[in-house]
Amino acid sequence: MLNIRIEKTQAPKELPTKENPLKFGTIFTDHMFIMNYETGKGWHDARIVPYQPIALEPSAMVFHYGQEMFEGLKAYRADDGRTLLFRPNKNAERTNRTNRRICIPEIDENDYIDAIKALVKVDEAWVPTKPGTSLYIRPFIIATDPFLGVRPSDTYMFMIILSPVGAYYPEGLNPVKIWIEDDYVRAVKGGIGEAKTGGNYVASLKSQVKAHDAGYSQVLWLDGVHRKYIEEVGAMNIFFKINGTVVTPMLNGSILPGVTRDSVIQLCKNWGIPVEEKRISIDEIFEAYQNGTLEEVFGTGTAAVISPVGELRWEDHIMPVKTGEIGELSQKLYDTITGIQLGKLEDNNKWTV
Ligand code: COI
Repeated sequence: MLNIRIEKTQAPKELPTKENPLKFGTIFTDHMFIMNYETGKGWHDARIVPYQPIALEPSAMVFHYGQEMFEGLKAYRADDGRTLLFRPNKNAERTNRTNRRICIPEIDENDYIDAIKALVKVDEAWVPTKPGTSLYIRPFIIATDPFLGVRPSDTYMFMIILSPVGAYYPEGLNPVKIWIEDDYVRAVKGGIGEAKTGGNYVASLKSQVKAHDAGYSQVLWLDGVHRKYIEEVGAMNIFFKINGTVVTPMLNGSILPGVTRDSVIQLCKNWGIPVEEKRISIDEIFEAYQNGTLEEVFGTGTAAVISPVGELRWEDHIMPVKTGEIGELSQKLYDTITGIQLGKLEDNNKWTV
């Protein structure tokens, strides 16, 4: 059991009960978790303190070479008053996978989950209850050595902050329009595409701006070598339903292994829907669109949950999907996942904690 010192705020903020709808990631709760690392001493000094700015040297390595990682998960308020986390063990495991890739010291996964539970407990009143809302949990680690040489840092800070949120996309569950990027690339096999680190997200900004300017919500990435195989959307994994089969790109080293992605695959399999994790080319998607077998497209992610896609644009081809309606499978997956997260549906897989 992680020993956590708790210092409560003397100036609690007003709860965002008047915010309607709640936006994504703009409001932060009263407290945050911090733990430090030093080579030779390990992770130490776990504490929950009032949410506040942190002081860092301008030379801190995170500012220069981007040695940092982050995670995202959510807490939900069940009707019976319990506060539920969704598969936090997956985030703990993925944190250490990312840490190994970018030379950040691993964290004991039980300590990691204890820290999340303890912080959520302190700020439990901030878990929103309106449909479509939750408490977004953002654990992250930064390299803090004051040093300008390129090497792994010897000191780090692990922090967790909390944000009551509504839908990630202002569209909510309404279908989003996606731009298929054929110019820039996000990641390549052997790089850091499967790690949850900020570098992957900064790599996506230029295309995201281009897509936004053209009226699209997000970018769908093609692989960096052939510029042909589907990878993922900036903040989500992607699924297609083609002729009754659900297909999603297989994890290949450059795609983020999403927790919602994994949950969707398991649910579809449980329901007897054929699922294939495979290499999918953009030509296959275009062909399915042309011959009328592209039945549904949706993104999956912690922040977005299930996000139906209403239109894909690839080069000059505009592919409306389901003429902008929410697909039946997308809706069923959304209802089931949020039903489990909220404790309303039987949790046969023991996903909630
Ligand atoms: C999440 O879905 O939680 C993510 O980490 C994606 C982020 C860009 C919002």
